[in-house]
Amino acid sequence: RTVYVNGQYVPEEDAKISVFDRGFLFADGVYEVTSVLGGKLIDFAAHATRLERSLGELQMESPVAKDELLEIHRELVRANDITDGLIYLQITRGAADRDFAFPENATPTIVLFTQSKPGLANSPAAQTGIKVISIEDQRWGRRDIKTVQLLYPSMGKMMAKAAGADDAWMVEDGHVTEGTSNNAYIVKGNTIITRHLGNEILHGITRAAVLAFAREAQMKVEERAFTIDEALQADEAFITSASSFVMPVVEIDGTGIGNGEPGSVAQRLREIYLDESL
Ligand code: PDD
Repeated sequence: RTVYVNGQYVPEEDAKISVFDRGFLFADGVYEVTSVLGGKLIDFAAHATRLERSLGELQMESPVAKDELLEIHRELVRANDITDGLIYLQITRGAADRDFAFPENATPTIVLFTQSKPGLANSPAAQTGIKVISIEDQRWGRRDIKTVQLLYPSMGKMMAKAAGADDAWMVEDGHVTEGTSNNAYIVKGNTIITRHLGNEILHGITRAAVLAFAREAQMKVEERAFTIDEALQADEAFITSASSFVMPVVEIDGTGIGNGEPGSVAQRLREIYLDESL
C-alpha cells in the first residue's frame, strides 16, 4: 500500500511518525473517513468542511489546503487501485516534548491511507440487518469534534461482540446518543427519528445526506432524543456512517425491532443513498 505522510507518498513500511507525536501521546488529533464507491469519492467536500471545523475547535490548522487534500485523496485511490473502500485521514498537532499545554509551534502531522473493501456497498449485513446492545455513553463531552480518542467506542464494540451483537448504541441520561461509529435512528410509521445535533454526537456527513433525501422523498423527520424503550417500540431502526451507508438494525438488547427484519424505510433510504452517490 502507498500511504501519504507529511507531503510524501511512501510504501507503508517506510511511513514513520515521531514517538513524541501528540496524536500518540494525547490523542491530540482529528480524523475523517471518506468512502470510495466505483472509484469515486463520496461527499468529499462535506468531510473536508467538517475536518476544518474539528481542527478549528482544537485551535489547529490544516497543513494542507482543501484542493490539495482532494488531490491527495484522488492520488491514493489511483496509486492503490481502490474501486470500493475507505480513505482514512488523520491530522495531529504534531511532535513536541511531552507537556499537557499545547506547544507553541509544533508542525502538524498529516497521514492518509486507504483500505480496499471490495463490495463495500453490497455487504451481507445490509440484507440481514445488524444487532445492537445499549451501553452507557462514557465518552468525553465534545463528540462533535472528530478526535482520534476512540478507546471507549472500541470497548463498546467489544462489549457488543461479547454479547453476540454487532455494535453498541450509547445512552446518556436515558437517551440514545449514537452508535460506536455511526448515527442512530428509529422509524415510527412514516417518521424518522434521530438525535438532534449538539456536542453529544458527531454530526454525521451520511446523516445530513440521508435526512435530506428523506425529506425530498416526503418522509417526516424528527430530530430529537429518543430512549431505548421508544426504540424497542419502533417499527424500524437503522444506523448511518461513511462505512456502512444506511444499515438496518433488527435487534436491540436481544429484542427484535418491528418484525425482526430490515425495515422498508431503511432499505429505501439505503437504495436512494447509494443511487445518488454512484
Ligand atoms: N465513524 N458517529 C460517530 C461516533 C462516528 O465515529 C461516525 C463515523 C459517525 C458517522 O459519521 P459519517 O456519516 O460522517 O461517517 C457518527 C467513521 C466511519 C469511523 O470512525 O470509521
